[in-house]
Amino acid sequence: MKPSWRRPQIKGSETVSFKDKVDEIRRDFPIFSRLERGKPLRYLDSAATSQRPIQVIRAVEEFYEMHNSNVHSGVYELSEEASAAYSGARKKVAVFLGAQPKELVFTRNATEALNLVAFSWGRANLKPGDRVLLTQMEHHSNLVPWQMLAQEKGLKLGFVRITDDGLLDEESLKDELAKKPKLFALVHASNVLGTINDVKLYGKMAHEVGSLVLVDGAQSAPHMRVDVKDMDCDFFAVSGHKMLAPLGIGALYAKEDVLSSMPPFMTGGGMIREVTEEFTTFDDIPYRFEAGTPNIGGAVGFGAAIDYLEGLGMNWVRDHERRLTAYALDLISGVKGVKVYGPMDPDRRGGVISFNVEGVHAHDVAQVLDEEGVTIRSGHHCAMTIMERYGIPATARASFYVYNAEDDVDALVRGIQRVKQVFGVG
Ligand SMILES: Cc1ncc(COP(=O)(O)O)c(C=O)c1O
Repeated sequence: MKPSWRRPQIKGSETVSFKDKVDEIRRDFPIFSRLERGKPLRYLDSAATSQRPIQVIRAVEEFYEMHNSNVHSGVYELSEEASAAYSGARKKVAVFLGAQPKELVFTRNATEALNLVAFSWGRANLKPGDRVLLTQMEHHSNLVPWQMLAQEKGLKLGFVRITDDGLLDEESLKDELAKKPKLFALVHASNVLGTINDVKLYGKMAHEVGSLVLVDGAQSAPHMRVDVKDMDCDFFAVSGHKMLAPLGIGALYAKEDVLSSMPPFMTGGGMIREVTEEFTTFDDIPYRFEAGTPNIGGAVGFGAAIDYLEGLGMNWVRDHERRLTAYALDLISGVKGVKVYGPMDPDRRGGVISFNVEGVHAHDVAQVLDEEGVTIRSGHHCAMTIMERYGIPATARASFYVYNAEDDVDALVRGIQRVKQVFGVG
């Protein structure tokens, strides 16, 4: 029997207090009915992957129960339903980002979206000696593909430096832009420092020197209103699983004229117009970039996740996280012997807080916290250039989402005190 978790969506009304609203939200997430080592689950690892509300789980279940079939070529009703569900999901994600559906390619995740840009647009448009500008705060997914392409094509990579406060160094940015890169690929919100980069301003500066702009939105789209047209980026990459959707679905936005000019990245079924023994002509955008059977169930779940987030209101999501981050920064940085990385101004950052406890390895911090039911991540977070910048091997990282509240932060801080006790530091 299905549990009766379904309830009406909460609207973005400010008449409901933050805590009341979070309590309601938590009831939508079955995982919070689970105890973690006998204690309430304090899930503070949403930057790695979010939890999913029952509305998303049910949407996927309903697709497989009642509408499952392949898209593309079926003329029977079931296939038409699956095709309609798939294109409906595309429209929802596109509208959420301020894009047109034809500008939105479904991928497996942000990593695949970023690789698509490198190995389709990059391979076709960059030549030996061309520069690609990155930043020192990129996730490996927006660094390694460019290194691979640089080796293949003889490109030069530049990096905008990070200040001690965890912001992009604008002098370094100007110096690098003066070298006239062909592409500026930068993260919108850092998965380690929490920094929210002013991608609209930096993108405008890059466009002025003739560069295209790729924004890695894996950590921003889940947490704030994104409008790719207002931002005026050429590419924007997202992962569904970090924004309440199932694993294995993500998307790439690319401006219509840019996407139309790009060759396919993968080829095969589902992306062709005509194939003979000698040649193939390709389908229109975005289908040209979706070779093979897509993750239809995942896309349907992505659409349901968008509905859920829109129900909360992205302004509410951002406000809530800004408040919670301010609360957490205050408490965590007040603990003796704890160093917090990234900007301290909650207006300049998202709800990702990296820290270290003096004299204790981040993995040990995470392990002691786990014993308290508090789940955080430790390590280099796939951003080793940031670790290098600060001369550290790892950080402990707590990250928040719509279902977190002050009680989670309080449990985290109690856990940090316990770490200090266990290791006899501070
Ligand atoms: C900033 C950033 N970019 C890209 C990615 C890659 O996302 P995925 O592993 O879903 O492809 C991540 C994942 O943590 C990330 O934080």
